[in-house]
Amino acid sequence: MLNGAYFSCGSLITLLILSGCYEPQPFVDNASQAESYPQQFQDWQATGLNSQRDDLLAQRPALVILWAGSAYAKEFHSPRGHRFAPADVSHTLRTAQPRSSTPEPDAAALSASCWTCKSPDSARMIEQQGQSTFSASSFYAVGPQIENSIGCSDCHDPQTQALRLARPQARDAMAYAQQTYSQQSRAMQAAQTCGQCHVTYYFQRDNHNKVVFPWMFGSTAAKILKYYDERRFVEWIHPISHAPMLKARHPEYETWSRSQHADVGVTCIDCHMPMKTTASGEKVHEHRILAEETELAEACAQCHREPQAVWRVIQLAKQELEQARDEVESLLVYAHYEAGAAREAGATFEELAPVLVAIRHSQWYWDFAVASHGVYAHNPQEARQLLNEATQIVLGARAELASLLSARGVSAVPYPDLSSKAAAQAAIDLDVPKLIQSKKDYLLNEVDSNWPAVNRLGY
Ligand code: HEC
Ligand code: HEC
Ligand code: HEC
Ligand code: HEC
Repeated sequence: MLNGAYFSCGSLITLLILSGCYEPQPFVDNASQAESYPQQFQDWQATGLNSQRDDLLAQRPALVILWAGSAYAKEFHSPRGHRFAPADVSHTLRTAQPRSSTPEPDAAALSASCWTCKSPDSARMIEQQGQSTFSASSFYAVGPQIENSIGCSDCHDPQTQALRLARPQARDAMAYAQQTYSQQSRAMQAAQTCGQCHVTYYFQRDNHNKVVFPWMFGSTAAKILKYYDERRFVEWIHPISHAPMLKARHPEYETWSRSQHADVGVTCIDCHMPMKTTASGEKVHEHRILAEETELAEACAQCHREPQAVWRVIQLAKQELEQARDEVESLLVYAHYEAGAAREAGATFEELAPVLVAIRHSQWYWDFAVASHGVYAHNPQEARQLLNEATQIVLGARAELASLLSARGVSAVPYPDLSSKAAAQAAIDLDVPKLIQSKKDYLLNEVDSNWPAVNRLGY
């Protein structure tokens, strides 16, 4: 069956390719565009000036407990400029180092899928090799071939500059979600270029670790949860509660798509890449991708007559959501430990199973709200509902746990020390100094010697 993917580069070009008279060059190095498009190139380069990022595990040590047993407990930062993407994924403790000394044959190592949204080179390889072959290869084997950070070819056909989705899984998922790229308005197509990466996804372990957007039933938190539950998908088993966990990843596109702004056709581009006039009087899109609050606040004035007033609305939402978020995080920490204590006191699997499912569900709803960067600006209503749902579910789980614990005479549960990231990591027996040392050795011997410079930007 033909789907939208076939037409995503424009049907004229497709025709030309089919008739053999057109030599497509679907991916180019960012640097090759500097001469033809000096303004966009210069602005794109400036995404490398936005180097600031926050250590979120240090700010909220409870995260270490919620993600115990997954790589997220090792390191988790807020996002920064697009040019840092390959270096950040190379350096994070989450990608550790290969388990054998040579990167190539280590099939058990991390999947190359982690590169999917970090570079147009991975989009090129996926196009050339097919999704399965790419995702079945190792992250470490692909590293030496990553030359470019997120750039022109990720969003544009280099021949025509038309917008496009460079990733087959994004084209497929949009078609699935009845938002086939070729049938969208220009504004929606532009938003979808961001939606290639700013979405939640998972690796299909039983299918070469392919990157899949879990949108079969829809893209709301509830529908994605239904998808995972029906597939009995478990991302990892929580070592304290033994709950079968899920992980949400930055669903910016999904949450935005249900916002008041999306309803009236206001997209990512209006706020993060607004039009500007250059010194020479040319009107262009801001390719620096605005992320600072002060700059984004200015973007509101394009449309809102009282920009300070709407800015205040979202700032108030931010405060309220952060408070709700912190409360859910505490409740979930308690729930994981109480479930562990109940099990150790002899609660049976039958007694605990519904509680563990509730913990899975609550943490999923919490994560879907919290992992969506900027959700307070994108869709505060949805975030409020998700955190409310998470709260109700975890409160129910804790009530059940309280009765299981009291039935077994347990009156005190040893909750962890959350005074710092190090304390929380110690509480889950994570030896971070050891992880850092072996990562350092790998960076020195392999990444610094054999991988292109883009993988070291900012380090
Ligand atoms: C993350 C996606 C993204 C990346 C990366 C990107 N662009 Fe764009 N670009 C856009 C969008 C969106 C527009 C607006 C298109 C529209 O509204 O039709 C645009 C517009 C343009 C235009 C039309 C003039 C203008 O500025 O509105 C040119 C030329 C262009 N980009 C070149 C480049 C070059 C060269 C690079 C790499 C140095 C690049 N782009 C990187 C998304 C991107
Ligand atoms: C190819 C994947 C990809 C595409 C396409 C993409 N992004 Fe990103 N974006 C990322 C990654 C990965 C990061 C985090 C980089 C890091 O922290 O190293 C990021 C970071 C960001 C940030 C934080 C920047 C900062 O300076 O703090 C914003 C804002 C953002 N993206 C918006 C957008 C918008 C808007 C679009 C569409 C025009 C877009 N992105 C397209 C992958 C992508
Ligand atoms: C109405 C304006 C608006 C629209 C539309 C919008 N954003 Fe945002 N975005 C913001 C604001 C404001 C923030 C908060 C910035 C902050 O907290 O520093 C933000 C934050 C982000 C961040 C996190 C930046 C960081 O450094 O933490 C990302 C990533 C992002 N947006 C991507 C997107 C994507 C992708 C879309 C479209 C699917 C989109 N945004 C639509 C205004 C907008
Ligand atoms: C491209 C135009 C555009 C931009 C840019 C834009 N908005 Fe809006 N915004 C709208 C429209 C149109 C509506 C819907 C109007 C309505 O329903 O009254 C809206 C609605 C809203 C609402 C909900 C209605 C309300 O008044 O409470 C808020 C809040 C809001 N915008 C905040 C922002 C913020 C904050 C920014 C900047 C980060 C921003 N908008 C940027 C066009 C825009």
